Amino acid sequence: MDSTLLTRQLEALLDSDDWLTNSAQTVAFIHTNIASLNWTGFYLQRSPQLLTLGPFQGNPACNPIPFSKGVCGAAATQRRTQRVADVHAFPGHIACDSASRSELVIPIVSEGQLWGVLDIDSPLPERFSEEDQATIEALCEVFINATRLPLFV
Ligand code: SME
Repeated sequence: MDSTLLTRQLEALLDSDDWLTNSAQTVAFIHTNIASLNWTGFYLQRSPQLLTLGPFQGNPACNPIPFSKGVCGAAATQRRTQRVADVHAFPGHIACDSASRSELVIPIVSEGQLWGVLDIDSPLPERFSEEDQATIEALCEVFINATRLPLFV
């Protein structure tokens, strides 16, 4: 993956500051430009300690997810990216799509508040390297910098 090229392309794509438009464009951009993904989407903190399904690509998914559950909940609680090589080995993993084998979840923090998480699933075990994580975190930074993120809670 060419991280610089992808970040420039996403910067060019996000030409509004609207959170709904930009979040939909960001998931579509990641899902179509990064290989071997079966699900890409945002979960938003629209009420305290609860993640509500937002724009996504892939099969219909689980909703809502409390902060106490799953890889998404761990990312939201710790405010740290969760890179899971084998979802079956992650205690409390929520299996929305049985095809998913590895997962990357990145917290989206704006002005010190957790706005939501970006969740990316792959049908391949160990799909995400450290370099992939850095690239997708850079894409999240592009999204955060381009977007006026309303705080729901
Ligand atoms: N696997 C996630 C749930 C969301 S789906 O993958 C779309 C989790 O354990 O939090």
